[in-house]
Amino acid sequence: MKIDILTLFPNMFDTIFQESIIQRAQKLQKVEIHIHNFRDYSKDPHHKVDDTPYGGGAGMVLMCQPIFDCVRSLKTKDSKIILLTPSGSPYHQRTAYNLSKESHLIIICGHYEGFDERIRSLVDLEISIGDYVLTGGEIPAMVLVDSITRLLPGVINEKSHLEDSFNEHYLLDYPTYTKPRVYEEMAVPQVLLSGDHKKISEYRYSESVKRTKSLRPDLLEK
Ligand code: ADE
Repeated sequence: MKIDILTLFPNMFDTIFQESIIQRAQKLQKVEIHIHNFRDYSKDPHHKVDDTPYGGGAGMVLMCQPIFDCVRSLKTKDSKIILLTPSGSPYHQRTAYNLSKESHLIIICGHYEGFDERIRSLVDLEISIGDYVLTGGEIPAMVLVDSITRLLPGVINEKSHLEDSFNEHYLLDYPTYTKPRVYEEMAVPQVLLSGDHKKISEYRYSESVKRTKSLRPDLLEK
């Protein structure tokens, strides 16, 4: 998969993709990530990317030209173009799965007060990572790249993501433990030491249900 990210703050991505699983996925050539500063595409003599809103109002609005030109230089017939905005559709594990099947994503990070409405005509999908407002789309872009990359075949053990919270069953993860058996008087549940795989599965399922009921009852309704 190829991912192109359009941003005014390319340095924000300096370390995030150079660590851990995303770094490994790039080394294994499962994903290719390119960061583009769309200011470089501005035809304005001062490389301006934003201006005041028509009709008045506070703040600056991202202009069409730099983003249109940058997207057009990257776009192919297989590209899926995503705009990150708090007014987009809510992002879910299901969205990550669907996007992990694409071959090319172009992700546009909005910034400042907003963007010219006509930029919407370029995009296939508008995504919000949650009902809160961030200063820009860079952190949401990191969220998308991380959650999608780990689902690409050969990046992590497939069984690991089948057991994720928010898989098809809409249940939160069951509790897990490792050595030692007792830590500060807190003991690992006996069933996990029993070697009885059927009992362990039943225990894990019931703990998942219990945890979901208590923390995310809305998921059980689904
Ligand atoms: N830009 C600012 N806030 C955002 C959010 N919650 N999701 C996606 N993009 C954003």
